[in-house]
Order: sequence, then structure tokens, then C-alpha cells
Amino acid sequence: MTGRGIDPASFAARLVRWQRDQGRHDLPWQQGRDPYRVWVSEIMLQQTRVDTVLRYYPRFLQRFPDVRALAAAALDEVLEQWSGLGYYRRARNLHACARQVCLLHGGHFPRTRQELEALAGIGRSTAAAIAVFCFEQREAILDANVQRVLGRAFGLRPGSDAASRKAMWDCAESLLPRQDLPAYTQGLMDLGATVCKPTRPDCLLCPFAADCPRELDPVRAARAPAPAARRSLPWVLLWARDPARPAIWLQRRDAHGIWPGLWCLPQHDDESRALAQARALGGVLHCVRHDPVLHRLTHVDLLLHPMEVVLRPHALAADAGDGAGWFDPARALRLGLPAPVRKLLQRA
Ligand code: ADE
Repeated sequence: MTGRGIDPASFAARLVRWQRDQGRHDLPWQQGRDPYRVWVSEIMLQQTRVDTVLRYYPRFLQRFPDVRALAAAALDEVLEQWSGLGYYRRARNLHACARQVCLLHGGHFPRTRQELEALAGIGRSTAAAIAVFCFEQREAILDANVQRVLGRAFGLRPGSDAASRKAMWDCAESLLPRQDLPAYTQGLMDLGATVCKPTRPDCLLCPFAADCPRELDPVRAARAPAPAARRSLPWVLLWARDPARPAIWLQRRDAHGIWPGLWCLPQHDDESRALAQARALGGVLHCVRHDPVLHRLTHVDLLLHPMEVVLRPHALAADAGDGAGWFDPARALRLGLPAPVRKLLQRA
């Protein structure tokens, strides 16, 4: 620690050197500059860890190898491939964006950050990442990891107010080198993800450890007081079965809220409401309560209580329109289902 802080003029060159020696080079989306592949990876990585994305990304690209294939697919197919990644708004926007690229740009992604940012689901930082990695543009990224890195390195307070955000963007832009933008950008991502972590950063591995003013750590200072206890929602999931055929009753969820647009066992706030629906579906023979399953979302814990209800045989012959119906189990598993519901149905 020199006490002088990090020299902004040499920050980029030091980071590029570190990225070349110590950064990540073998991630599948780093092989080539196809904006479609880079875009899909950036959207998946927005709220999901790299190791999880690595399990979904190849399968997604196999099913939708290019932007035209994605635009031509039904939204349900996209949600099905996304099932388990969470934050399903991303999948809806991905689909809408693919259609925009085909309709407005002839199937080719635009090259500038501003044009990219005008597409569905692409914010400023993601647009910048695509413009840098695929089109060699000189743009700054500023996702949550980068805010933390710059906050610690240059003593900036991250905040959601306009002035703090502007100060961060100004800092990010002022540090941009004239060359090596892709390595620099990847270096920021890599440093934030692997060394300058939110809790217990590995300062011993950091190329800036000698002059980082971390003891002032504005990130730590600005951290809100301990968060309030997490909210927990008990949800009864009605697992209605027709004993005469291996069919499960599923309903499509609302386009807003938790698990938007996914197919799900009907959700109720309590058992009596779930039973009322079961009776309406055709008379209850018997009912089994399964062990509850805890499913954590960002802001809330769902405590899922699956309630299996066997109805009178052939209780309801026909489907009930677009948003609900009987599905045989194999077909149900091909729908876009929330991960815990998929697991439950698979176990059965
Ligand atoms: N997080 C966001 N974008 C990323 C990328 N391109 N590589 C690794 N992690 C990332």
C-alpha cells in the first residue's frame, strides 16, 4: 500500500496484462465474435453464475443456432429452454429482441452501443459489452461487478441516485484505453467475478493490491444496514391427477409476477382454496400432502406445499382453453416449467 491510490492512467494497461496472464479465456462465448452467441451469453450471465450458464448455454444454442431460429420459435419453446435459469423476463425479452433484429435489422445485430441499447432487454452495459466484444467499439461497461471494482479501486460510492450513477459512468469511461478494449472489458468482468468478490475478496491475487485504497472501502461503507428478514410465502400447489389416465392439470401463470408465463401446478394461498379448485375440477377421491420444498428467489422464499389430489376418473374430459389443461407427463416436461415444479413432476 503506497497510500497514493491507483493511477487511473495505467489502470487499463495493468488490467489488460493481468487478464492475459490470469483471466478467463476458454468460456464458450469467448470463442469468436458472433454477436448472437455473445448476446445470448451476456443475457444469461446477467443474473446467473458462470457455472450455471455453462450448463444451459450449449443446449440453448443447439436448439436456436442463430437469431432467425430464435425469432421463428414460439415463446413457449424459448421458455422451455430457459426453464431453471430463472428471471424469465430475460427469456421473453430475448425472444422479442430476436424478432426486432430480424424485422428492423434484416437479421444482423446493429454495431453501435446506442442501436443495441434500443433493442428489447439490452441495457447500456450489455449493449457496450456486445459492441466491444463483437464490433471493436470503444464503450464502457458497468454491471454490478464492475461498480464494485471501480468503487473500491477509486473510492467511489455506488448508489442508485442519478449523481452516483453518473460519477460511476464517468469514471468507467475515463479509464477506457485506446486499444485492447475486449481484453480490458473481459479483465473487468474477470477481476470482479474471481478476485474482487463482494465478500472476502482475494486481495492477495489482485494486480492492484499494492495501491488499492480498499481500507476506505466505499462499497462496504455504503452498504445498507442489515437487510430486513426475508419474506417467506407459503404456496399450496394443487397436483390434480386423473386416475384413469396419466394426466396432470397445469395452468399457465400470469405474464407478471413470479414465474411469468410459465406452466405450473395451480397455486393457492391455502389448502381450502386448493381443495375448492380440485372439487370444481371433478370431485376428490383422496388427497396426499407431500413434503414442503423451499425455493429461494432473490427477494422472497417460496415454501411450496405440493398437494396431490386424485380426482374421480375422467373427471374433466376436455381442456379448459388456452391457459389450462390436462397434460400427459412427457408433454408436461417439455413445457416451460419452474424448476421446482419440473423436479416434482420428474420425481413422480
Ligand atoms: N459476466 C458477464 N459477462 C461475462 C462474460 N462475457 N464473461 C464472463 N462473465 C461475464
